[in-house]
Amino acid sequence: MDRTTDPDPDPAPTASRRARVAGVYDYYLGGDLNDDVDREFALRMMASVPEAPEVARLNRAFLARAVRHCARAGIRRYLDIGSAIPRVGTVHEIARAVVPDARVVYVDIEQEAVAHGRALLDGTPGVAMIEGDLRRPDDLLARPEVRRLLDPGEPVALLLLGVLHYVSDADGPGALVTRYREAVAPGSILVVSHGTDDGAPQPVRSMVDITEEGQTTAYMRTRAEVTAFFAGFNLLDPGVVFLPRWRPEPGDEPGSPRAAVMAYGGVGHRAT
Ligand SMILES: C[S@@+](CC[C@H](N)C(=O)[O-])C[C@H]1O[C@@H](n2cnc3c(N)ncnc32)[C@H](O)[C@@H]1O
Repeated sequence: MDRTTDPDPDPAPTASRRARVAGVYDYYLGGDLNDDVDREFALRMMASVPEAPEVARLNRAFLARAVRHCARAGIRRYLDIGSAIPRVGTVHEIARAVVPDARVVYVDIEQEAVAHGRALLDGTPGVAMIEGDLRRPDDLLARPEVRRLLDPGEPVALLLLGVLHYVSDADGPGALVTRYREAVAPGSILVVSHGTDDGAPQPVRSMVDITEEGQTTAYMRTRAEVTAFFAGFNLLDPGVVFLPRWRPEPGDEPGSPRAAVMAYGGVGHRAT
């Protein structure tokens, strides 16, 4: 089954259901908001590609640097689509260290992730978590939480980290990003991270194969394809690069040789 064509892919939790992307990701990051199916899948992945948790950590470190960049640029609103469970090193915590009144809407397609996220965020002012599908921008942009966040005069950070590689070419990921760009004010910032097999084809191919056995399809893209998502944005230096190479900070994990080249990251500002 290609779950990217199924907007409600969460059957009752039986041993035969697919692992949830957010649950597996939580396991990689050392969390406990995952179940047996997620853990079994994560362990199967790690037996074949031991770097999987490291890639998740490198992605979170990139997210932290990129969100700090947004906050230092004065961004007070964040739309994080495909957020998974906002648990450790969350966008609102990182942004609020710089901009104390930063507001965040977290969006994920997985009901379970949204339920966990809401429980964790309960009572946190200025932060919401909703269930939604990146591939349905008009529905998502019409949601009251998102409408309240998006003000025509106020730039936002549009965070699409580790999610566009679940969108097939048939679903037009470039056109989707364009639709979101049109909905945000000039000065808004796009942050993207995305899996690639440019750097380490063999382990990434294994990752994709195991992901497919787990009933989720992932679409790796080249540097040029990821760069194309920034059409209409001014891509900041150093451009679209392997995650640890995007403005590394002292103390950041450099990443092992294979993990360091399994995903790209980039940040762009919408000029007009
Ligand atoms: C690998 S996690 C990335 C989490 C977080 N953005 C990060 O980079 O740390 C990908 C998340 O995207 C979610 N996702 C996948 N397809 C989606 C879609 N079409 N719309 C919204 N969320 C989606 C998954 O449920 C999962 O929680």
